[in-house]
Amino acid sequence: DGSADFVVIANRLPVDRVSAPDGSTMWRTSPGGLVTALEPVMKRNGGAWIGWHGAADEKVKPFEHNGMHLEPVPLSEQEVAEYYEGFSNSTLWPLYHDVVAPPEFHREWWESYVRVNRRFAERAAKVARENAVVWVQDYQLQLVPAMLRELRPDLRIGFFLHIPFPPTELFQQLPWRREILEGLLGADLVGFQMPGAAQNFVRLVRQRVGHKTHRDMIYLPDGRTVLAKAYPISIDAAGFEELARTPEVIARAAEIRESLGNPRTMLLGIDRLDYTKGLRQRLRAFGELIQEGSLHPDDAVFVQVATPSRERVQQYKLLRDDINRLVGRINGDVARIGQQPVTYLHASYPRAEMAALYRAADVMVVTPLRDGMNLVAKEYIACRYDERGALVLSEFAGAASELKQAYQVNPHDINGMKSMMLAAINASPRENARRMKAMRKQVMENDIELWANNFLEELTATRDPHEKNP
Ligand code: G6P
Repeated sequence: DGSADFVVIANRLPVDRVSAPDGSTMWRTSPGGLVTALEPVMKRNGGAWIGWHGAADEKVKPFEHNGMHLEPVPLSEQEVAEYYEGFSNSTLWPLYHDVVAPPEFHREWWESYVRVNRRFAERAAKVARENAVVWVQDYQLQLVPAMLRELRPDLRIGFFLHIPFPPTELFQQLPWRREILEGLLGADLVGFQMPGAAQNFVRLVRQRVGHKTHRDMIYLPDGRTVLAKAYPISIDAAGFEELARTPEVIARAAEIRESLGNPRTMLLGIDRLDYTKGLRQRLRAFGELIQEGSLHPDDAVFVQVATPSRERVQQYKLLRDDINRLVGRINGDVARIGQQPVTYLHASYPRAEMAALYRAADVMVVTPLRDGMNLVAKEYIACRYDERGALVLSEFAGAASELKQAYQVNPHDINGMKSMMLAAINASPRENARRMKAMRKQVMENDIELWANNFLEELTATRDPHEKNP
């Protein structure tokens, strides 16, 4: 009947629609780490996943996939524009990422956000069995916990924010700050990537909503408590290592280097094409190293993969044009036939191709201006079982607090990035192996399964929602 003891709610379903040559369509599990981690839990508990299937103005019936029950939530063309591209990705996304692009505030977008959040909550209220555990994901659905609790006080509700939670001064800009805080307070457990984010949230709840708090506990007037804590997310580390060890990936990595003319140093960036990722600064730093002659185009190439993302949003269009121009300029300035310092790929690739790129790269460059975690950094580490390669990592990525042995940089400091790239390139293999070993220990031991288990254990250990007094 589709009713479930464990329900995940996320803006997107964990599947992509693919069309066969005969015109028929089917669903394929998308490569995200979250579904890898939750699939076993869902299969054990008769789980359901509620999410948008990615197309506008289209109703899709609930269906079974890979032992999971999937509940597609429809969005109209206007809701895609106002809830998804608007409030989620032109208001919350830039605001939560330290306003590295200016957030826009529009009342119609907010109203659409409220309407769509209610639709997700209502669907969950229908699907969840008595006393079920419901786990709401990310910034697109921050009102769902309170809306769902209103409909179904019997449920145990968790929320996890995959992106940064902003400093209190920035959050206060939001005209609907109180509604968002109260939305999140519908959960029993609110999870963040970093301890500082959880602290920002608790402080805001105390100052703005006026609830009593003690460390990571919030006390509501009705006797309920809400816990706010950090659970740094990870990846399917063993899965990536296994993939990187296959003969196909090893052969493909050699082929990639060959196609690049067997350079002495291959630098690599893999990001969604997003203004939070620091692509402009990173390319500028590399371009200057080439221009000044610190790196020679015969010796060093930079491969930048930029996965298309949110392409109808203005800031993303501007970024795309900017990066095209910047790459063209770096390559054009070299002006020697056969030399192209930057290979720029505006495309998305399957996991195996990513693993081959990771294996091929001498230096992985991950330099976001702000990032909740950054899983690419962890994927690179997981693939380097050979203990070779080096990671240049922004101190403003959540991953920086775990990956201490990376070559850490301030992505706004172009000179600093230039010297760190050179340091990573010129370090002895022994030095880089020492760093890689330590980072691998961290990544391999703290995988996504442990992350999900930690969160769900804490969630089910929160007191019974029926109890008034703990
Ligand atoms: C980030 C967000 C996710 C989102 C993903 C892709 O990782 O935290 O919630 O799904 O970006 O973005 P998109 O807008 O395509 O879903």
